[in-house]
Amino acid sequence: MLRANRSFITYVYVNISKLRANQSFITYVNVIKLRAARSFITYVYVNISKLRANQSFITYVNVIKLRAARSFITYVNVNISKLQAAQSFRSRCTLVSEQNKSSSGGIFTYRQDSFYHPPGISWNLLHQVTILVFNMNFLLESLHVLVMSLYCFLEAFVKIFLPVGKKSIAGETVLITGAGSGIGRILAHQFATMDVTLVLWDINLDGVTETARVAKEKGARSVHHYQADCSDRAEVYRLAEKVKQEVGDVTILINNAGIVHGKKFMDTPDLLVEKTLHVNAMAHFWTYKAFLPSMVKKNHGHLVCIASSAGLIGVNGLADYCASKFAAVGFAESMALELIATGSDGIKTTIVCPYFVNTGMFDGCSTKWPRFLPILEPEYAAKRITNAILTDQTYLFMPRSINFLIFLKSFMPFKEVVILGMYFGAFNFMDAFKGRQKKAD
Ligand SMILES: NC(=O)c1ccc[n+]([C@@H]2O[C@H](COP(=O)([O-])OP(=O)(O)OC[C@H]3O[C@@H](n4cnc5c(N)ncnc54)[C@H](O)[C@@H]3O)[C@@H](O)[C@H]2O)c1
Repeated sequence: MLRANRSFITYVYVNISKLRANQSFITYVNVIKLRAARSFITYVYVNISKLRANQSFITYVNVIKLRAARSFITYVNVNISKLQAAQSFRSRCTLVSEQNKSSSGGIFTYRQDSFYHPPGISWNLLHQVTILVFNMNFLLESLHVLVMSLYCFLEAFVKIFLPVGKKSIAGETVLITGAGSGIGRILAHQFATMDVTLVLWDINLDGVTETARVAKEKGARSVHHYQADCSDRAEVYRLAEKVKQEVGDVTILINNAGIVHGKKFMDTPDLLVEKTLHVNAMAHFWTYKAFLPSMVKKNHGHLVCIASSAGLIGVNGLADYCASKFAAVGFAESMALELIATGSDGIKTTIVCPYFVNTGMFDGCSTKWPRFLPILEPEYAAKRITNAILTDQTYLFMPRSINFLIFLKSFMPFKEVVILGMYFGAFNFMDAFKGRQKKAD
């Protein structure tokens, strides 16, 4: 029995071992299967990712191709438009020159021909020839720009040393706003000696009447003066119609009227802020609207914006004045480009940005370094403005150091601009401001 029992136990033991072995074998097989399944899933996943990557690469390449094709089409379209514009510009020029030939000494006596051209190849001819040769090729077009840029720089360099010819403005009709005092009055008196018809506007009737009296004495062809508030759009349009009926088309428009109150921004009443913007900037919009159409018709005229260096660089204590002058500069500059772009390149633009001028408008203001930033005399400023108009100069910054300051401002870190501003005394320009009103008291 004992033996039988033992062999039974051995039998059971052996069977349990077999069972375990079977189980571990099954587990082993299952684990392997699981691993295989997992690696299969990973394999599938990796392949899907690759597929996706491939697809997105192909999509990416296609998008790039599409963009390139689109930009090429745009490029071709732009070039076709340019060609068309150039053609229509040429035909317009022919039309205008034909009109010029047929006009027999009317009001319109000053023509393109009277403008100064530097000796040698004419800019227009060079421009047209290079456009034809280099058309529709990026590299060659870039070369074209380089050649033209070199030409412009050389021309500007030569003009520094050679006296630039002045155009004749005899017979022109010159309108000056704010002609009742200061720069406007001196400009009127200078133009009076050039055989022009003068139209003088100012809100101050006594002032403008006096300017007109002296202008007549100085030999102006005829002088017409009006009391006008340039900040009032309706009044500008009404007076403009009156001028057209009584005098004729204005061919040189000088937007000169301006005001300043010299208060810190938070101390400035809202109405005064509005007034400053209306007189110094908005008035330019209305006078352009009123007088530009007749200039465009003849492709002839000159637009002058008397702004300020405060229209190029901000000044503390002059927030609304600066804003109005920045607006005036931006407007005049944009209009100069718009006129060129629309083929009215016979209408010239001059933008004047003077530092302080000793007219009384900024009485009390001081300059820290008078050698670097001198306060200008009104006669000198007016002479340079007249000269800029007669030589078709687009920008006039006075004194020349303003050019240097704008250059610095264009790339310097703001903190450095502040340090330099303090050095040049910009933070204290307005400290002792009295202005014209206080002076009259
Ligand atoms: N004086 C300076 O230091 C200085 C510096 C930079 C720029 N400017 C600019 O030069 C221009 C002339 O200034 P100025 O020094 O001869 O000053 P100014 O005060 O002597 O002349 C300005 C004239 O504009 C007139 N005016 C004012 N408001 C008017 C309005 N609403 N409608 C019509 N006329 C109006 C005035 O009556 C005055 O006759 C201004 O635009 C001014 O901002 C002057």
